[in-house]
Amino acid sequence: MKENNGRASFSSSFGVLVAMAGSAVGLGNMWRFPYLVGENGGAAFIIIYMIAVAFISLPIFITEFFIGRRAQADIFGAYEKLTGSKKWGTIGLFGLLAVICILSFYSVVGGWSVNYLGRAVAFEFTRADTSELGNIFSNFVSDPWLPLIFHTIFLLMTAVVVILGVEKGIESFAKVMMPVLFVIIILLAIRSMTLEGAGAGISYLFKPDFSKITRGTVIAAIGQAFFSLSVGCGTIITYGSYVSKNESIIKCSAGTAISDTLFAIIAGCAIMPAVFAFGISPSEGPGLVFVTLPYIFAQMPLGGVVAIFFFISLLLAAITSSISLLEVVVAFLSEERKMSRKKAVFCSFGLFWVVGALCSLSQGKLSDWTIFGMNFFDLLDYVSSNILMLIGGLLMMIFAGWKIGKKALKEELTNNGTLKIAPWLVNSIVFLIRYVAPIAIVAILFATYGIFY
Ligand code: TRP
Repeated sequence: MKENNGRASFSSSFGVLVAMAGSAVGLGNMWRFPYLVGENGGAAFIIIYMIAVAFISLPIFITEFFIGRRAQADIFGAYEKLTGSKKWGTIGLFGLLAVICILSFYSVVGGWSVNYLGRAVAFEFTRADTSELGNIFSNFVSDPWLPLIFHTIFLLMTAVVVILGVEKGIESFAKVMMPVLFVIIILLAIRSMTLEGAGAGISYLFKPDFSKITRGTVIAAIGQAFFSLSVGCGTIITYGSYVSKNESIIKCSAGTAISDTLFAIIAGCAIMPAVFAFGISPSEGPGLVFVTLPYIFAQMPLGGVVAIFFFISLLLAAITSSISLLEVVVAFLSEERKMSRKKAVFCSFGLFWVVGALCSLSQGKLSDWTIFGMNFFDLLDYVSSNILMLIGGLLMMIFAGWKIGKKALKEELTNNGTLKIAPWLVNSIVFLIRYVAPIAIVAILFATYGIFY
């Protein structure tokens, strides 16, 4: 089925799954997750992360999917269509702001990946004197021009896929790239886990030490669970609006959450064992992928080739996510502002280019410019993950669980009773959406801002 009442749509169940998984699997899995695991003590962090995915992020994912598919509209239009009033559309504003923050810094890191792929292809990491490898990154990101050029290239690649449309662009791209991505990351994990001395890294990932857990660990794990599943800002509302009424929301949401978590763990297996095998500290922070790994590639047998595949997969993972972020804004501009897709892509490109450029410069020339002690790049990451997505997710669940209500949720989750899904499962999901996940978010907001503690 191609058209949905004249609205663009995904053409198959597999297409829906790879598009959604494409959005979820991204820099969050390959760049953010491994360094958070490294900074927060390994397996214990992973366990809390998985609990947060199951009880908070997945219910929000299902909520967004529900809103999008039921309304078949963009992140503002959806609320208006379901209630008949403009008032609820305000929730969309949180989403829009979050998307602007995220795609801006995302595109900068995406640009770094393009650049590093180029360096890998030139075998720069295996040639350079290893003592110089650390400087490559700091010299590169603080250069005023080079990262801007690569930010532009990454954003252009994203825009090209989005211009082609939902089925011919987003779906076709994800259908080819997601399987390729999974194959590459599995091969990389095998390479890393068979290195001599890899055992320490494997036990770091899988043997929990619960004494390492602090309030900060829990907050970081929940933030990552939001980011990694792409929830809390309307990406899934937008993609959900392109899904036909015959698909099962629960199956597809669970499929995405499982693929995303699995991918993060496999990416961890591709990185941590190598880090330990070469005796490096796992808590390198955001530089883990761009500083530590090149150093490892330099010394690993076949490292030059491994580096190429690693940065290809980083780039693919990043693009399938950035297209989902761009699509949120493009859908909004074309439906609410009646722009053509081309014009909408053009306008959003301009916006993201400018905000992203500021982010990029904040790593060098503008690094003295701080707000609340953070440079612009860190500020956007912080505001989106710790404020906008949390509040956005909370409001969406209040909207779906309480304003629209149980009955509609159950109808949509079972496709009006035509899907055979055990009633206890549907009831538990509705319970998570109405009570558990919203209360957990309020608690985490309090914990983050130190109220009551
Ligand atoms: N989930 C993606 C990642 O892990 C990033 C992403 C895409 C995202 N869309 C999002 C994050 C929406 C938050 C909200 O890299």
